[in-house]
Amino acid sequence: MSEILITGGAGFIGSNAARRFLEQGHRVIVVDNLSRMGTETNLAWLRSLGGDLVFEKGDVRDLQFLQALMERYRPAAVLHLAAQVAVTTSVTDPRTDFEINALGTFNVLEAVRLSGQHPAFLFASTNKVYGGMEDVPVVERNNAYEYESLPLGVGEDRQLDFHSPYGCSKGAADQYVLDYARIYDMPTVVFRQSCIYGTRQFGVEDQGWVAWFVIAAVTGHPITIYGDGKQVRDVLFVEDLVDLYEAAIGRIEDVRGHAYNVGGGPENKMSLLQLLDKLERMLGRRIPISFSDWRPGDQKVFIADVRKARRELDWEPRTSPEEGVKKLLEWVTENRDLFRTIPTQ
Ligand SMILES: NC(=O)c1ccc[n+]([C@@H]2O[C@H](COP(=O)([O-])OP(=O)(O)OC[C@H]3O[C@@H](n4cnc5c(N)ncnc54)[C@H](O)[C@@H]3O)[C@@H](O)[C@H]2O)c1
Repeated sequence: MSEILITGGAGFIGSNAARRFLEQGHRVIVVDNLSRMGTETNLAWLRSLGGDLVFEKGDVRDLQFLQALMERYRPAAVLHLAAQVAVTTSVTDPRTDFEINALGTFNVLEAVRLSGQHPAFLFASTNKVYGGMEDVPVVERNNAYEYESLPLGVGEDRQLDFHSPYGCSKGAADQYVLDYARIYDMPTVVFRQSCIYGTRQFGVEDQGWVAWFVIAAVTGHPITIYGDGKQVRDVLFVEDLVDLYEAAIGRIEDVRGHAYNVGGGPENKMSLLQLLDKLERMLGRRIPISFSDWRPGDQKVFIADVRKARRELDWEPRTSPEEGVKKLLEWVTENRDLFRTIPTQ
């Protein structure tokens, strides 16, 4: 069995990916600085699964640490997921955001390149690399926004337009990862992810809105909607994303050097108000909300065109928002003690 190295492996997506590879019998090396709320809990859960798990505490800003890892292990795949993940935090502290997301990714790439190894290198980028898309007309229908004439969503040929420090740092990283395939012939692939949600997501008001709404609804935290709540995202359940990671590792020679837009696509979209509606139905009670101003850079709608990933990776988002939200709600309800002290920011 192979070694799979996951930076940010104690985070939301990382711990779900780690579980999958552990269950398949791989040795999983989780690299994380445990800065995110909930990571200790995720790590303890991963340890409880009983597979071949190694935890390496460290920071992607530390090149020497990363180089030592690449001497110690011979991973068949590196999933680079560690990041500063909130747009709001990137605005208040752009330097730290840059150092973790841009320089950190550069460090991981360099550690791999200098090691002389050729693992499949997967990078979790973001749809924020496409910016505000102000030129794309948006209309309101049935209390939700949608593109006037882009029924299949945003494709990879969309012009890049980094918006916000987070958009810039992830966007720079995205371009470096692609360029390392060109210049150094490294088998790298970029996933420009829409909104991912699911179990083990310690969502807060600033990041991870689906999980945040569910956690707040269950624990009775106040929910503020920034904007009118009609903004729409295509949402993808985390297990479906892990399917895609697995497919990419299996076909890395076909997909190396490519970027893929990855989300629920037009079939799996949801507005903030629609999520609240669903939750109210599932919980059988009203959820109190308040409204505040739009946050900078918040798009009225984003839907990914996922046809390239479908075609080239034989992949499909399988979990409907109804089913996914139900699973998330069950997980939060069963673990509500974990969320007693979760801050809202
Ligand atoms: N969740 C989403 O909707 C979404 C959407 C688009 C892109 N992404 C990207 O996917 C990746 C994973 O996101 P997530 O939702 O699992 O977030 P997360 O915050 O749960 O996971 C990120 C992990 O990185 C770790 N980390 C942060 N800074 C670090 C550092 N300097 N060194 C080492 N580890 C560090 C954190 O402790 C955390 O475990 C990120 O790169 C994020 O930008 C996520």
